[in-house]
Amino acid sequence: MRLGIITFILALFIWQCAPADPSTSVGRDGWLSGTTDEKFETVTDHFGGFARAMVEVQYRYVEMFWAGEDENWDYAAYQLEEMEEALEDGLQRRPARAQSAQHFMNVVIPEMEEAIASRNKENFDQAFELFTLQCNSCHAMEQVAFIQVGPPEKRLGSVRLR
Ligand code: HEC
Repeated sequence: MRLGIITFILALFIWQCAPADPSTSVGRDGWLSGTTDEKFETVTDHFGGFARAMVEVQYRYVEMFWAGEDENWDYAAYQLEEMEEALEDGLQRRPARAQSAQHFMNVVIPEMEEAIASRNKENFDQAFELFTLQCNSCHAMEQVAFIQVGPPEKRLGSVRLR
């Protein structure tokens, strides 16, 4: 019992002596400054929110389209998987978007996955059309209906089927 009290007092003493979170600057030329919390705050700002995730999603959407046109099924599957991860990260950062994303995550992505796994271009093209509709339907739900996406017309990426 006495040992317990001594340990408690000692712990309290050590806690009292612990220095406050120091404000230091790190990074090139010390661009990242403030307390640890302030630094994390700055870093999370740099990660960006949902729009940042969408820039990646749209790149992968375009690449997945050309992968399907090339019947490069492994590349198509890869792009869809990475797209899903980008969406998951975006939703972790902006959970307010999660409800509108539910159908896309739980139904639309698995259906696209199935179409790619069938390695059949007709299935792919059909699934891609529905996939696109669902991108736009989420935009409508999230009050950004002015962002309408559609299959790309020109190829900009450098990945080709060999
Ligand atoms: C959760 C619903 C949701 C889904 C699903 C979704 N989006 Fe978005 N998208 C948004 C929101 C919300 C924004 C606006 C972001 C903001 O305001 O921060 C956006 C923005 C965008 C932008 C503009 C990005 C920019 O800032 O330049 C593009 C392009 C885009 N989405 C493409 C897509 C594509 C392609 C798909 C389907 C593969 C898709 N989105 C699926 C909600 C969604």
